[in-house]
Formats: sequence, structure tokens, C-alpha cells
Amino acid sequence: MVRWIVALMIWGIGVFGVAASDIENRIRTQCFHCHGSEKLCVDTDDILWWEHAVARMVLYEDGLLRPEEVATMAAWLSQKEHRRLWCQ
Ligand code: HEC
Repeated sequence: MVRWIVALMIWGIGVFGVAASDIENRIRTQCFHCHGSEKLCVDTDDILWWEHAVARMVLYEDGLLRPEEVATMAAWLSQKEHRRLWCQ
């Protein structure tokens, strides 16, 4: 039983770790040919604000992200500890 829980925890960290670094990679490859990372250093945790901002980027560049990726990226960016990466 304990072994099960430990295995599940390791799996969880693996899955979420990969997902997070995947978003980070997408941002690095798809967001910085128009502006620098400082644009992502906005001090708000409002997920709707982030959805509007990211959706606007897709208007600027057609096909930049798939519709479902807008929400995922917005949710990721709405977390302060994730944004800190772009605040230097
Ligand atoms: C086609 C060029 C282009 C691409 C690609 C682009 N942006 Fe932008 N971005 C802009 C412009 C122009 C502005 C300034 C005007 C504005 O805020 O709408 C901006 C502003 C922003 C802002 C600041 C909004 C504010 O009100 O302070 C954020 C956040 C942002 N971009 C996030 C992103 C993210 C995340 C990506 C990658 C998915 C991205 N951008 C890709 C052109 C782009």
C-alpha cells in the first residue's frame, strides 16, 4: 500500500513536471520573437486577465496556439512562481 502511494507520487511529479516544462518551452519558442520576457512579468494572478492577454497574442499571430492551449498557458502564467522565471 505505502509502495503504491510512493509510486503514484513519483508518477504525479513526473507527469506534472513534464507538462510544466513543456509550457515553459512553448513560451520560449513562441512568445519572444515579438517582445521580451518582461511582458510576461505582470503582477496579477487573475486567470481571466491572462486568458485575455494570451488570446490577444493569438489574434496578433494566427495559429500561434491551439484554442485549448490558450487556457493552459493562461492558467500556468497566472501563478506567481511560474511568472518569476520571466522577471529578471
Ligand atoms: C505577433 C507578435 C506577438 C507574439 C508572437 C506574442 N506577443 Fe505578446 N504582445 C505583443 C504585442 C504587440 C503586445 C503589446 C500590446 C498588447 O498588450 O496587446 C504584447 C503584449 C503582451 C503582454 C502584456 C499585456 C499587458 O497588458 O501588459 C503579455 C502578457 C503577452 N504579450 C504575452 C504573450 C505570450 C504568453 C505569448 C506567447 C504565447 C506572446 N505574448 C506572443 C505581440 C506578440
